[in-house]
Amino acid sequence: MTTWLRNVIAAVASVAVLVIAQPQSGGCDRSCLESLMSEYLTAIAAHDPKRLPTAPGVKYVENQQIVPLGEGEWLVASSPGKYRHVFADPEANEVGAITTLKENGVGTIYIARLKINDDRKITEIETQITRDPIGAARYENMTQPEAVWLEAVPLAQRISRDRLITQSNKYYTGMERNDPKGNYSFFDKDCNRLEDGLNTTNQRTGDPYGHSNDTAFASLGCEAQFQTGFLGFVTKIRDRRFLVDEERQVVLSMTILDHNSTVRELPSVNGTSSPIPAYFDVPRTLQATEGFRLKGDKLFRIEMTLTENPYGMRSAFVGSPLPPVSSQDTSNSIFMGDPCDRICLSKVLDQVLQAMLVHNASTLPLAQGVRYSENGQFIDVGDGLWLSLRSFSKPGVDEYAAQFADPTSGTAGYWGLTKEHTTPGVLALRIRVDSGKITEIEANAVRAESSGSRFGTMTLMRPPLPVEWESDPLGPLDPVFLQNGTGATATSIPSTIMTSYFDGLEQHSSTDTPFTTSCLRRDNGVQGNLTCAAQMAGHGVSPNGLYNLTSTVRDRRVLVTDAEKGVVMVVAMIDNTATGPGSLPVTASVPSTYLIPQLIKVDNGAISRVEGMVKWMPYGYSSAWTEEKGF
Ligand SMILES: *[C@@H]1O[C@H](CO)[C@@H](O)[C@H](O)[C@H]1NC(C)=O
Ligand SMILES: *[C@@H]1O[C@H](CO)[C@@H](O)[C@H](O)[C@H]1NC(C)=O
Ligand SMILES: *[C@@H]1O[C@H](CO)[C@@H](O)[C@H](O)[C@H]1NC(C)=O
Ligand SMILES: *[C@@H]1O[C@H](CO)[C@@H](O)[C@H](O)[C@H]1NC(C)=O
Ligand SMILES: *[C@@H]1O[C@H](CO)[C@@H](O)[C@H](O)[C@H]1NC(C)=O
Ligand SMILES: *[C@@H]1O[C@H](CO)[C@@H](O)[C@H](O)[C@H]1NC(C)=O
Ligand SMILES: *[C@@H]1O[C@H](CO)[C@@H](O)[C@H](O)[C@H]1NC(C)=O
Ligand SMILES: *[C@@H]1O[C@H](CO)[C@@H](O)[C@H](O)[C@H]1NC(C)=O
Ligand SMILES: *[C@@H]1O[C@H](CO)[C@@H](O)[C@H](O)[C@H]1NC(C)=O
Ligand SMILES: *[C@@H]1O[C@H](CO)[C@@H](O)[C@H](O)[C@H]1NC(C)=O
Repeated sequence: MTTWLRNVIAAVASVAVLVIAQPQSGGCDRSCLESLMSEYLTAIAAHDPKRLPTAPGVKYVENQQIVPLGEGEWLVASSPGKYRHVFADPEANEVGAITTLKENGVGTIYIARLKINDDRKITEIETQITRDPIGAARYENMTQPEAVWLEAVPLAQRISRDRLITQSNKYYTGMERNDPKGNYSFFDKDCNRLEDGLNTTNQRTGDPYGHSNDTAFASLGCEAQFQTGFLGFVTKIRDRRFLVDEERQVVLSMTILDHNSTVRELPSVNGTSSPIPAYFDVPRTLQATEGFRLKGDKLFRIEMTLTENPYGMRSAFVGSPLPPVSSQDTSNSIFMGDPCDRICLSKVLDQVLQAMLVHNASTLPLAQGVRYSENGQFIDVGDGLWLSLRSFSKPGVDEYAAQFADPTSGTAGYWGLTKEHTTPGVLALRIRVDSGKITEIEANAVRAESSGSRFGTMTLMRPPLPVEWESDPLGPLDPVFLQNGTGATATSIPSTIMTSYFDGLEQHSSTDTPFTTSCLRRDNGVQGNLTCAAQMAGHGVSPNGLYNLTSTVRDRRVLVTDAEKGVVMVVAMIDNTATGPGSLPVTASVPSTYLIPQLIKVDNGAISRVEGMVKWMPYGYSSAWTEEKGF
């Protein structure tokens, strides 16, 4: 059993029996729900989940990740803010709030939704933490929602619960593939929208909107904005859920927005057009929480906050099915030996990359039930990189590219540079073939993040990494990754080496990890002058790509073991609980999980070179492969 799983079980067990809800008869009304939300915010700020009346098996979620109750934000939160916009849904036994919270002293916009059962025990806790300190400060300046959100609407002016949902849902239907031809009459003519505490409709400030340079969009009203088609870069809005506060005629909704990177221009607004921001070069998924205040059946106020998830991330509360498994079972094209030897694997790997490049998988010999993942999420073959890839570096031709193979298990790996539209990345790709068909394709793509104009491509609301890769040239890949290994047998590299490496990373100790004395490691292209062993032990100031107080190393996966080259391509998740001593550097102060694809060279049974990339993930993120196979 993994440490993670043990923690989950321990946390569930420790809170399950402690119940402080006072016995009351009848349902939980607005004031009951509001005080439950107060209790919740007090408990998290006190780092004490035992104060909460939780049901056994309560599900606690941060930014779509299931986290043991008491971990994650529970270890770092303080100071619930003055601004507290509460939405009560007594019919569904749910309460939601848009508020602020400090995380290691830094302001965040914090959204919580609680669901209780008939015994008033909490069964679901869903939270969205948006790391936008300026937005949080704007909210604190407001101190409270505009009065219109909080009024009880006279019965005669109300619309039904179902109609409130139908009308609110039109916002998403209108935004998904937003185009100028839609009917957007569901907006009230005096509608306004607030985003992270900032008014973004009817503003005459001339400030550019979002990641774009467009200065006219925010001057328009809600309906006129939709009529421009400007928001067409949102290609899908899924996992839509609605909490309904009928008395106030408001709805709090939670949804997931995909931007599949195929929309390449912004329509003109007010006669001027601007290019699509680089942020949308690569496939992106954002989670959104929106409050809607309706007037009659029109949307009158919108209060919105976004944060980014890994592309394709599914809601932790919707049993949304895995993408349909491709039923393609083509017997065409590539000659594939069975078993597929090194040369065969190399050809198939190249075909997969070529197919991505031409955005067409139909020439590939895909097995029935083939699985495709990107950064730990299963998505459709044909989605993600299959849409955005524009070039990749070629092994044997370009200086930063390599290929690996393990004919015994039918796996092959590619490590090289990609371009998705204009954005560079490093791709660690694994394929698996069986009986002449491709059964698995796993992409781990770490894109360069630039903090350039209008926030460049920097992932929305994440902290900086200890070492950012901002598309600086990576130079040649160290030739040791291309040469044959020394002393490796042609059969295997002992798996104990990888176990000791991951254990060493977890414990910040190189005692039991076999490194050569001259071993060097790069993270996101940066290499210090400490040896691998000294770096792992966290000695001194080193440009180590990982914060030196990280904890668990989970979801450890060997992607390919190439015994001939003496190279292992791996990926793992490393947690940073952000609970280090003293005042933490900004890079370390946010609970985080790092996804780390790495190439590891093994010579004579010792690690001699490590080439690693680091990608930020929300705390608690895990790989779908690990979940599916239960490694
Ligand atoms: C909050 O209000 C203060 C005082 O009016 C102002 O100086 C500050 O800029 C405001 N902060 C934000 C983030 O709007
Ligand atoms: C737009 O939708 C509204 C409400 O459904 C409808 O009354 C109106 O006729 C529609 N307008 C057009 C131009 O189709
Ligand atoms: C934002 O808009 C609302 C009306 O929607 C208004 O009450 C509020 O004063 C505006 N805030 C600012 C800072 O302009
Ligand atoms: C939009 O165009 C109108 C008419 O040309 C002009 O009056 C207005 O100032 C423009 N608004 C912005 C924000 O550019
Ligand atoms: C926005 O304007 C800046 C400064 O002029 C420019 O560098 C940048 O490329 C522009 N970005 C887009 C997406 O147009
Ligand atoms: C994909 O490739 C197949 C085989 O070459 C071809 O028939 C098909 O039209 C292509 N599809 C697209 C969308 O280009
Ligand atoms: C990507 O988005 C475009 C534009 O909305 C859509 O036409 C296309 O079907 C989407 N592709 C995938 C694979 O989702
Ligand atoms: C690497 O090892 C294999 C298998 O032993 C051998 O066939 C090949 O020639 C070697 N390549 C080089 C460049 O030495
Ligand atoms: C290498 O070590 C020296 C001495 O500790 C230090 O001054 C220098 O900055 C280091 N260089 C790098 C690239 O870390
Ligand atoms: C982590 O690194 C910092 C500075 O880089 C250093 O001051 C600190 O001692 C290190 N902590 C550990 C546990 O090695």
